[in-house]
Amino acid sequence: MEFNVKSGSPAKQRSACVVVGVFEPRRLSPAAESLDKVSGGYLSSLLRRGDIEGQLGQTLLLHNIPKTLADRVLLVGCGKEREIGDKEFKRIIASAVGRLNETGSLEGVSYLTDISVKTRDLHWKVRHSVEISSESLYSFDQLKSKKEDTRRPLRKLTLMVPRRSDLPNGEAAVREGTAIAMGVSQAKDLGNLPGNICTPSYLAKQAKAMGKLYSKLKVSVIEQAQMEKLGMGALLSVTRGSREAPKLIIAEYQGGKTKEKPIVLVGKGVTFDSGGISIKPGAAMDEMKYDMCGAASVLGTLTACAELDLPLNVIGVIPTCENMPDGAATKPGDIVTSMSGQTIEVLNTDAEGRLILCDALTYCERFEPESVVDIATLTGACVVALGRHASGVMGNHHPLIHELLNAGKTSGDRAWELPLWDEYNDQLKSNFADIPNIADRTAGTITAACFLSRFTQKLHWAHMDIAGTAWVSGDKKGATGRPVPLLTQYLIDRSKG
Ligand code: BES
Ligand code: MN
Ligand code: ZN
Repeated sequence: MEFNVKSGSPAKQRSACVVVGVFEPRRLSPAAESLDKVSGGYLSSLLRRGDIEGQLGQTLLLHNIPKTLADRVLLVGCGKEREIGDKEFKRIIASAVGRLNETGSLEGVSYLTDISVKTRDLHWKVRHSVEISSESLYSFDQLKSKKEDTRRPLRKLTLMVPRRSDLPNGEAAVREGTAIAMGVSQAKDLGNLPGNICTPSYLAKQAKAMGKLYSKLKVSVIEQAQMEKLGMGALLSVTRGSREAPKLIIAEYQGGKTKEKPIVLVGKGVTFDSGGISIKPGAAMDEMKYDMCGAASVLGTLTACAELDLPLNVIGVIPTCENMPDGAATKPGDIVTSMSGQTIEVLNTDAEGRLILCDALTYCERFEPESVVDIATLTGACVVALGRHASGVMGNHHPLIHELLNAGKTSGDRAWELPLWDEYNDQLKSNFADIPNIADRTAGTITAACFLSRFTQKLHWAHMDIAGTAWVSGDKKGATGRPVPLLTQYLIDRSKG
């Protein structure tokens, strides 16, 4: 889908459909007001008759409004004018675009950018209109033999800004929104693909293809033999029970000066997590195909970053493998040596994410990074702690954590910090090795981060646990593409100094 920005009055738009807001109770938005005046009170007479109340998410499609040039006008309920925040704005745009897509209009002109959203400016409203529209038209049907195509789908949406002088700002917002939407839908696609298709080799191939697409992106893949030479015993212990070859993908985006220190994003890429010998119960085990959503978010963010041509150096590091049980699989109690030299007692083979991440994090030291952020569907405990609304953030460098939390607020892809105190670190004790891969049952999200912190002492590092946010379960089961918006926002903010 294509987006652009324009300014001008609603009655003069030659379009298949002009979209305007109505507030509760029966009050016209500025654009609707202007249509009403031109048409001799057509809209206000409908409101008086009670055709639309203005409740959040309501829609009413009208045709042939007197003295206007559009084929249709779509009225969209916005709820109470003073109560519109991020969540309400999302509902408004999603219902508008959903309805617009059903009307047969191939293109539309939206004035919903004129409604005020608490604490948000025009740039935010335009950018988020793009993101939300793309989100609500997303579908994953590439593996269905019969596709349910919309007969005349919406192809182009024009977002209106109040003045001509707002056009540059609006265009920049569309550019950001489009890049983020691309990254999000790439991350969703990769996440939604099943484990028999989206294997470590598949992820490596996708990354390579991105390297061909963007001249500033160079992708290389470290194979198993090289991992052995590097001494990545922790990563290798996870892949032992699988028939699929593990990969360590390195995707280097060079948008900044050669000497400029890179920001490194590390994504957990377990393409299926059966638990290994500590096998998981059967219920909802299919959802463990999503255990590579950290990896997908790193690739999606690199896409957004390359699309925006950000003046930064960013490196994606993706350790990817399967976690499966077989005769060769790592057993509870096995002790392995990580690339850092620290020995690890694998008390539970289902705590595999931290094992592949710790070697990837050690590998990052060679880049002398500005900062390192790892992104992982790491613990079920994070879903218990924060639910599906916020990703968990922990780390060893407060300025970095704050930048991530702020990027979450700006992008609407929120995160929340959990404490990484010494007391939690003390829970990780092994009788037989330097460190165990699990602690007791308490504070599982934090002790997982504590484990990683033993491998990041030389780095400015933050960890994001996206176990609750990377996908939704139930009848709308599917990947969310999170935290691509947060990560891209972090990079955008960084690029502005
Ligand atoms: N990939 C899972 C975490 C997970 C589970 C994410 C359910 C989302 C939903 C991870 O590899 C895992 O299995 N973690 C264990 C750790 C435990 C053994 C300490 C968990 O959370 O149960
Ligand atoms: Mn696991
Ligand atoms: Zn896992």
